[in-house]
Amino acid sequence: MSNLCDVGVDPRRWYPACRTDELGPGRTREVRFLGRSFVVFRDGHGAVHCLDNACVHRRVALHEGEVRDCRIVCPYHGWEFGPDGALSRIPYWEPEKALPRLRVRSFPVVERSGLVWFVPEPVDPLPPQPPDTSPWDGGEWFSFRQDRIFPNHYGIGLLNGMDYTHFHLHRRYQPWSRLTLRDLTAGDERVFGAYEVTSGRGRAERVLRLLLGSDAGADTVTHPLEVYYDYPHHHAHLGDGMVVWVFFRPEERDRVTVYITLYIRARRGTRHLRQFAEPFFRRLVLARIQEQDAWIGVREQIAWESRPDEPRCELNPVSAAAERLLRSRWQAYVEEADPRPGQWPAVRLGGPARHSASPLGAGRPDDGA
Ligand code: FES
Ligand SMILES: [Fe+2]
Repeated sequence: MSNLCDVGVDPRRWYPACRTDELGPGRTREVRFLGRSFVVFRDGHGAVHCLDNACVHRRVALHEGEVRDCRIVCPYHGWEFGPDGALSRIPYWEPEKALPRLRVRSFPVVERSGLVWFVPEPVDPLPPQPPDTSPWDGGEWFSFRQDRIFPNHYGIGLLNGMDYTHFHLHRRYQPWSRLTLRDLTAGDERVFGAYEVTSGRGRAERVLRLLLGSDAGADTVTHPLEVYYDYPHHHAHLGDGMVVWVFFRPEERDRVTVYITLYIRARRGTRHLRQFAEPFFRRLVLARIQEQDAWIGVREQIAWESRPDEPRCELNPVSAAAERLLRSRWQAYVEEADPRPGQWPAVRLGGPARHSASPLGAGRPDDGA
């Protein structure tokens, strides 16, 4: 399988369904994963549940129904399903007759790191718990949430996030002038790259030095940059002052939702300043970098779909190792799965996309110049 866009992800892992604060009591949400539809809902007692998003009666989607106590009610004939998916009530059923024993498939859910997580294909035992970001929540850390739907394949998004050599695309925001790979380890579940970054006196470089509390008098400063692909998610740590967690939910062949939280350590004396600066930093830097990544992601998708078998000359060993891991985990799943998973549906190149007026979207995003 040479086309990266043909590669799926192992559904026997935890994936983010939504942020916890996007699912208030009595609320439902549709969650898509690998072309399938799930519903998550929070019941009246605050607990979250996840079911297949199809009523057993006539397969109408349940997320457009309502939550009643701890049950979800189908919007069509009003059949009610409990947290485990069991049919618990039919409004017009004769009381003296036993209810048929019917069930919507249910999935494990957990709330952790400010997200609702689910396992789209449960296994026994369940996979290890999703990552815990609580050490960075609150206290001396500022957090910037920057979630986004990218109109490209999961692998394109993952490799973009892992690849710190693509700063040409973000050159206006490049916070270092040298990036040196010091170490790389690749295992069955993790790729770890250890870089050293050197910042000089460029504009973005000075901002980074300020954020990391570096020696303001030195001409250049270096910081360790550690990059992890902990299948199927990603995190990176820059010096002792910056951490980014990136959680993926692959939805369709050309669509991935990414939950990103960037943490920056608040140094003494800068706390007030940073709280004030946070919305500007988010809008003027993070959002623009994301625009550029979304812009190039569509273009890389087209490059894969139109030239699937032509070789790629990946010279960054971290990216190459991450792609090998991504492909090998999917291969292992395909060999173990019963029945064998199907293919992603094809994407029509150049035709009307499902998610935007044109698959190429607008022109190159403004880099603030
Ligand atoms: S389709 Fe759901 S109750 Fe009839
Ligand atoms: Fe990027």
